[in-house]
Amino acid sequence: MPLFAKKEETAVDYGQLPQHVAIIMDGNGRWAKARGLPRTAGHAAGAETFRTIATYCRDIGIRYLTVYAFSTENWKRPAEEVSAIMGLLKKYLLEAIEDMEKEKVRFVFFGDMAPLPDELRELARRTQRDSAKFDGCQVNICLNYGGRDEIVRAARTFAAACAMGAAKPEDLDEERFSGYLWSGGIPDPELIIRPGGEKRISNFLLWQSAYAEFYVTDVSWPDFTKEDLRKALAAYQGRQRRFGGI
Ligand code: FPP
Repeated sequence: MPLFAKKEETAVDYGQLPQHVAIIMDGNGRWAKARGLPRTAGHAAGAETFRTIATYCRDIGIRYLTVYAFSTENWKRPAEEVSAIMGLLKKYLLEAIEDMEKEKVRFVFFGDMAPLPDELRELARRTQRDSAKFDGCQVNICLNYGGRDEIVRAARTFAAACAMGAAKPEDLDEERFSGYLWSGGIPDPELIIRPGGEKRISNFLLWQSAYAEFYVTDVSWPDFTKEDLRKALAAYQGRQRRFGGI
């Protein structure tokens, strides 16, 4: 396998990259606590890491990047923390709109946008609409997202189609069901990365992760670098994917 690396970089075969990488951006709170900072400072640092890693994914040719920015469970956090995360997302989207023609990234939002603050919901809608013309890297931002919620909504949509006579239960197969998910039409992630050391899926891409390779690192998301991404890609390339075969 040809491997390509600059001195001191982990060797990655850039001709064999996964098409779709997904990241659970975890460890922001602990990163901040370890530095005597408020948790919100960890999220602010995490937003910067996201910027760096998303650009790098685009530059090396990852076709789809999906990040977990806010889960359906994250509303349980203190109001101040929730509002800080919403504020960071707003700031990021305003900048993304500004730089859109230069960056050429397509943004898609996975999740129920209805309960979000009006301004953020409108920014997300605008960013998704105006970036739809770009066909390079697609960044999926999971916002008020839950894997179970996504599956229940897909089941409901299909049930409604059946009730209207537009579909029959026996028509449903895995491919058709996938089409009802927020990720409908894009390939499943081959690699899911979880910084922050926890070994859980946390309601992230439950359907789509069926055959994903899972990579956990103790590095917190705010400290996660391009080199950490290369390590994850190299680990992925070193694995044998059997999809239930032998
Ligand atoms: C999990 O870390 C992180 C979150 C719930 C929020 C992620 C949000 C950002 C990185 C900022 C905005 C994102 C974008 C896309 C601009 P945690 O708080 O659970 O960390 P802990 O486990 O150490 O407490």
